[in-house]
Amino acid sequence: MNSETRPRIITYLARPETRLLVAAMLGPRYDVLDAPLDLPLLETLHAMEPDLLIVEMELPEISGLEIVCRVRKDPVFGELPVVTLGHATDGGGHKVALVAGCTGYISFPLDPVLFPRRIQDFLEGKKDELDLKEHLQYYRRFTEVLIEKLEQRLERLEKKTRALEAERERQDALTLQVLTSMAKLIETKDTYTRGHSVRVTRYALALAREVGLAGEDLKVLERAGQLHDIGKVSIDLKQIHKPGPLTPEEWALIRQHPETGHTILAAIAFLKDEALVVRHHHQRFEGYEKHPEIPRRIRLMASILTLADSYDAMTSQRSYNSPRSTDDALKELDRCSGTQFDPQLVKAFKRIAKTLEQDANDPPG
Ligand SMILES: [Fe+2]
Ligand SMILES: [Fe+2]
Repeated sequence: MNSETRPRIITYLARPETRLLVAAMLGPRYDVLDAPLDLPLLETLHAMEPDLLIVEMELPEISGLEIVCRVRKDPVFGELPVVTLGHATDGGGHKVALVAGCTGYISFPLDPVLFPRRIQDFLEGKKDELDLKEHLQYYRRFTEVLIEKLEQRLERLEKKTRALEAERERQDALTLQVLTSMAKLIETKDTYTRGHSVRVTRYALALAREVGLAGEDLKVLERAGQLHDIGKVSIDLKQIHKPGPLTPEEWALIRQHPETGHTILAAIAFLKDEALVVRHHHQRFEGYEKHPEIPRRIRLMASILTLADSYDAMTSQRSYNSPRSTDDALKELDRCSGTQFDPQLVKAFKRIAKTLEQDANDPPG
């Protein structure tokens, strides 16, 4: 018992009105303190050093039975009087609570005369007891109730996890939307790149499917395609597409855009793979030999993007040259196969190029 004359009672109760009632009935004789429900009770108990604990059987997040079990498992509180409050109509719940290790059980409604008296009894060492037969009888019920309560808690946790997951997905979708809009905005500032990312993504996905990519890889590639030139945010495209040759500074700025894109995307947790694909989307096929650290999966996706990107650059109008025909662009891919482009991908792209061209020319229907 505390050195002060007034014993300290900690309550762990679900409803504010019960807390008020208990405080009103016990306050004249004891120090009554409420343990916050949103903090681990054992930590509170260690900090407050109570002489008695009152726990309600029905709590919002955890059952009173579990609380009693946890308190009893802590050697410091092996002998702490623990009193549970519950309803007399709970089908033997009070006996189950005694099996769990509580010192006594008091039923609602709380009697203003009897309640303080019983608390005093428990403080003085009195215990509600079960005989052996009852103990054995309710032990099975105790296990069942505990499992049932644990299952309910698990279900609530699962529901919460699902809600959090849905919220995270919503946030990710929003982030992606903002980034895609930003990438589109960069493109629309310049006539020659308008629609570039949409076409590159379409070519890249078709090629990826042709070489057997599926599932999450396609999703990564789709996002990387939409965002591959986002690093051009630091470049004035109109300036770049002026007539005449580029200055060395302008070239340096252009060469920097995959790295800038990587920096932007790598800061976003769910776009880590996309950031790597974007970083390497101008990597030459023969250059990968010098970069064994790039994972094969990233390398394949980046190589697909490189090919799709170059194909679109060749077949769409650019300031410095007129668009090439499909045949002409495929010849160029062939010429650079094994040096700039992955030969397997060039072969695969040649198989699907005609269909892609047809799809692009078909009126929307
Ligand atoms: Fe690029
Ligand atoms: Fe591009």
